[in-house]
Amino acid sequence: MSNLNTKYLNLDLRSPILMGSSPLTGTLENLRKAEDNGVGAVVLRSLFEELIVNEARSAVESASDYLNFSDAENFLEGASKNFFIDKYLRLVQDAKKSLDIPVIASICCNTHGTWVDYAQRFEACGADALELNYFILASDSSVTGQQVDKTYMNLVKAARKAVGIPLVLKIGVQFSSLSHMIHAFASTGVDGLVLFNHFVRPDIDLENVQVETRIVPRGMADYSETLRWIALMSAETDVDLCASTGISDSSVVLKMILAGARCAQLTSAVYQHGFGVISTMNNEISQWMDSHGYTGIDQFRGLLAQERMKHPENWERAQYMKIKS
Ligand SMILES: Cc1cc2nc3c(=O)[nH]c(=O)nc-3n(C[C@H](O)[C@H](O)[C@H](O)COP(=O)(O)O)c2cc1C
Repeated sequence: MSNLNTKYLNLDLRSPILMGSSPLTGTLENLRKAEDNGVGAVVLRSLFEELIVNEARSAVESASDYLNFSDAENFLEGASKNFFIDKYLRLVQDAKKSLDIPVIASICCNTHGTWVDYAQRFEACGADALELNYFILASDSSVTGQQVDKTYMNLVKAARKAVGIPLVLKIGVQFSSLSHMIHAFASTGVDGLVLFNHFVRPDIDLENVQVETRIVPRGMADYSETLRWIALMSAETDVDLCASTGISDSSVVLKMILAGARCAQLTSAVYQHGFGVISTMNNEISQWMDSHGYTGIDQFRGLLAQERMKHPENWERAQYMKIKS
């Protein structure tokens, strides 16, 4: 009988399936459901640095009629920030108390904020690891690619200095040289990379002639880029790679492991099918392993990584010439 045990960030997981960060992982009730269905670890809903700062500012603005002293403003701003952070810290503490699986805290940060302080507080509350969700939309033409890369590196270095727990960076696919950046991140001492985040996208609502923000449904097109990059990088870096985006069923999890991923995160699949999808996937992964004669995940992890391939160029092909229909 196969077993699904694996290691991620040096943490012992009973399954390679993680719950990705979203509002679904923001309540203890849901975290328990995920655990009951056999998830390997949970990534808590992100603490959004930007949201905290905005909420604190609007608290000060709405009280400006009766706040005459800057000391009072500072106090209210600080108290409002603490309200959000304390709520999140309670979630980390409660999750650690009630669950037996690893609990990964998550911060959506921006460069100049006070997130380093939050990160240290999560660590003090017992989080098993920290996932940083960071994204720069390179829309400012006065900023060069090198400057963008440097901003990422500064953020990761600051995070690495701040916490001792395993550190994971969740990134998007848009870098001028993704492979160079993955090696650069590894050199800062990050323990894991989540490839890739899937961001909300703007669209146009034709009926009301306005811009709307959309969460685009997932499909094959979404997981293929993740699969390619896991296969290209897994044998090249010691950093643990966790697959994310478009992990819609057990076959995609298996493909990611064959390409070299340590684990895979689900979000949309749980939104669409409920928490039961985790146990279904675990069972199907087990069945596939049994039918292929594998008793453990390590026996087939990375079997199809680029470095092990007879035709490594298959993972790099991007143009249509000679592609089978
Ligand atoms: C409704 C929703 C909320 C999300 N919230 C967060 C979040 O708070 N922090 C984060 O790092 N990612 C967040 N994500 C991104 C997911 O964790 C995941 O990276 C992305 O949805 C791709 O995975 P999927 O194809 O399994 O959905 C969210 C995704 C969705 C759909």
